[in-house]
Amino acid sequence: MAQEQQATLMNNHHYLIVFFPVQGHINPSLQLAKNLVRNGAKVTLGTTNRGLKQIKSLPTLKGLSFASILDYQDNDDSQTHKEFLSYLAELRSIGPQNLSNLLQKFLADGEPVTLLVYSIILPWAAAVARDLQVPSAFFFNQCATVLTIYHRFLNSQDGIHGKINSSPSIEVSGLPLFSSSDIPTFLIPDNPFSSVMIKLMQEHIHVLEQDPRSFVLVNTFEELEQESIKAVANMNVIAVGPLMPSAFCDGSDLTDKSFGGDLFCQSKDYFEWLDSKPKRSVIYVSFGSLAVLKKEQKEEIFHALVESGRPFLWVLRSSNNEEEEVHKMMENGLNGDGIIVPWCSQVEVLSHRSIGCFVTHSGWNSTLESMVSGVPIIGCPQFSDQTTNAKMVDEVWGIGVRAKANEENIIERDEFKKCLDIVMGDGDRGKEIRGNAGKWKGLAIEAVKEGGYSYNNLKILLEITR
Ligand code: UDX
Repeated sequence: MAQEQQATLMNNHHYLIVFFPVQGHINPSLQLAKNLVRNGAKVTLGTTNRGLKQIKSLPTLKGLSFASILDYQDNDDSQTHKEFLSYLAELRSIGPQNLSNLLQKFLADGEPVTLLVYSIILPWAAAVARDLQVPSAFFFNQCATVLTIYHRFLNSQDGIHGKINSSPSIEVSGLPLFSSSDIPTFLIPDNPFSSVMIKLMQEHIHVLEQDPRSFVLVNTFEELEQESIKAVANMNVIAVGPLMPSAFCDGSDLTDKSFGGDLFCQSKDYFEWLDSKPKRSVIYVSFGSLAVLKKEQKEEIFHALVESGRPFLWVLRSSNNEEEEVHKMMENGLNGDGIIVPWCSQVEVLSHRSIGCFVTHSGWNSTLESMVSGVPIIGCPQFSDQTTNAKMVDEVWGIGVRAKANEENIIERDEFKKCLDIVMGDGDRGKEIRGNAGKWKGLAIEAVKEGGYSYNNLKILLEITR
């Protein structure tokens, strides 16, 4: 884009992206912001004051700034149902006024916000924007299929309560049936987060269906989820993904090698080890930033890795003393050719030539990152949208397998070894999976390159929010 044109855009666009400070929300929000800034927009990223402090180092980029919209002591420990509920209630009671003040301050300073982008946890932001006549968009950081499933569920003939009390199965035309083990776990009866998450999605979907000017930005690309995007055509879905550091995706900025907002400290000492391994030989294992595995599950993974005889790189977050537990297992004589780190630069690891497969909890960011790197997946979903992602990976996109858990919800070592043999072995299924992984890698990169669907959608977004 010509410099003159960029300067004009710079004068017209000011996006305020408000996000919830957990890693799976921070990363795509930061990347969306960076992509907009690269197109000449000014972007302010807003989150809780504590969230801003917890991020190890914030990216510095001309046009990008940060603001605290929720200035209070947020709870570090909002993992339980009760704590999460009171956390959300507190956000809702304090957030709207703070956000409103910030929007008005920007207006008074001559930098009016041209679009407010808000995340799943902050649905009240839409009303704040409407009151001040600021256009707004919901940013959904999961896949379009999950959005479609929530939409189907909320519009169900039986009514929500009928569905919650039975075991729901949901049909989306062109896709295999989603049974109770495939739909987001928050739609399953008895899930403690069920009612709060359904309420949040109800609020979002209500705005999207009732206000014709509203739209939803989704971290996906049209080729990947055509059927699901079609199924919610009444909602103005704008696919802008995959939102990935440019160096590993469209290649337009080779210095953009990380999202740049880690909440955890990395160890850097694994690259030399990876460099020493043959092509596609290493098993990469990580369960994202939130899932906490039972000790028994970690033991099963560890035995499977060691018994597979393949090299492995395993992320065990030190915040949960997980590393220590596994080091103890190692001291007991079980030693494979593997290394364990508390956190890594996942996008860099996945793009390393030595990585042969990704054992993952199937978080949406991890799934997309694996896809963009062409790395086959062994899906071990834990909660939320992860079950749906794992089904799509296995049955629709064909880029991996979903590992089966036993009745105690543990994936046993033999199941892991079977999955590893499939995705890394020489059998027909493995070859097919690797072929599909290569195909989707190409399509994902095409989508964000000049002329691709997501590239064009970002331009449309810039155009309609002038
Ligand atoms: C959460 C939900 O669990 C997930 O299901 C939802 O789709 C998004 O929000 P999380 O569990 O953390 O996120 O998983 P995921 O979506 O995969 O995001 C994790 C992020 O952390 C990825 O971007 C990944 O690159 C990054 N990461 C993970 C690292 O940078 N280093 C690591 O060692 C591990």
